Amino acid sequence: MNRKGHFMLTHAITADPALEFAAEVRAGLTAAGQKELPSKYLYDDVGSALFEVISVLPQYGLTRADERLLRRHASEIVEQVPGSVAVAELGSGSGKKTRWLLKALCRRQHVSYFPIEISPTALAMCERELGDIDSISIVGFEREYLDGLLEVAARRRDGQNLLVLFLGSTIGNFDRSAATKFLCEVRGILRPGDSLLLGTDLEKPIPQLLAAYDDPLGVTAAFNLNLLARINRELDADFVLEQFEHAACFNPQARSVEMRLRSRREQTVSIPRADLMVGFLEGETIWTESSHKYSAAEVSQIAGSTGFSCKAQWIDQEWPFAENLLVAE
Ligand SMILES: C[S@@+](CC[C@H](N)C(=O)[O-])C[C@H]1O[C@@H](n2cnc3c(N)ncnc32)[C@H](O)[C@@H]1O
Repeated sequence: MNRKGHFMLTHAITADPALEFAAEVRAGLTAAGQKELPSKYLYDDVGSALFEVISVLPQYGLTRADERLLRRHASEIVEQVPGSVAVAELGSGSGKKTRWLLKALCRRQHVSYFPIEISPTALAMCERELGDIDSISIVGFEREYLDGLLEVAARRRDGQNLLVLFLGSTIGNFDRSAATKFLCEVRGILRPGDSLLLGTDLEKPIPQLLAAYDDPLGVTAAFNLNLLARINRELDADFVLEQFEHAACFNPQARSVEMRLRSRREQTVSIPRADLMVGFLEGETIWTESSHKYSAAEVSQIAGSTGFSCKAQWIDQEWPFAENLLVAE
């Protein structure tokens, strides 16, 4: 069968995303101690577009390493996932790199592909990017990861295995214990024999890591500051962007690059839709994202403790990065 791909979008069912955003902003900015904002809110229209630019920056070798591995080993990877397979992708973004895997799988069968994204912009990019593959149907889910995966699992046909993709080292945005819990939850939705292809960025020299998250063009800074701009747009806040600056630092205990927004002066910001006035001291920061780095052996060990076994790993030598094929036990 050689059917041209088609695309459908399942819209968000969240009660009121604006209320949820306001509640999380309020909770994060009134927390005792370090102020925080959840990294998932970095990806509105502007943030998703800026992330695409980050992925081609010379300093951000991560996406290219991920893509090199998928391009070089796509046939081998899909050979390790036997039977009839449906593909779900957590946080697909534009889905560019996924093309290699889907094309390899489409040589063997018609493929149902389910990208799961909170960003409608990213889902739309994914449709444009992959909709031309022969013999594919795409059904996008505008959902949080686990809500989307539950819906995909409920749609699987008898005898069909699921291949879940979690690429780009997005797992690194969870701290280590939350990553373990998340993998357990994913495993709880899967059946024995299903697979998870997990991309993980590996440890590398600190200057190389810091340059990847603080590029000289200032694209990552714009990506980070856009979170405040988003709060201005959606919650009527009055953040003056020039009075905050992007900062990236390496936390050696957590083995993580942390992105923050630092207040350049003492100031008060009003966020009417979150019913909040929030004060900042000069130099005070908001923690917006962490990117944890792994060793290849550690990923295999985490797989074992979360109900998976690590069947294969492919490692990029140019920019240490691992593609890990985990099979649900
Ligand atoms: C770091 S980007 C990676 C994109 C792509 N997988 C890649 O490797 O280039 C993370 C993606 O996950 C999406 N995302 C973040 N948090 C999410 C959540 N809780 N549920 C669903 N999607 C999420 C974002 O919108 C973004 O497109």
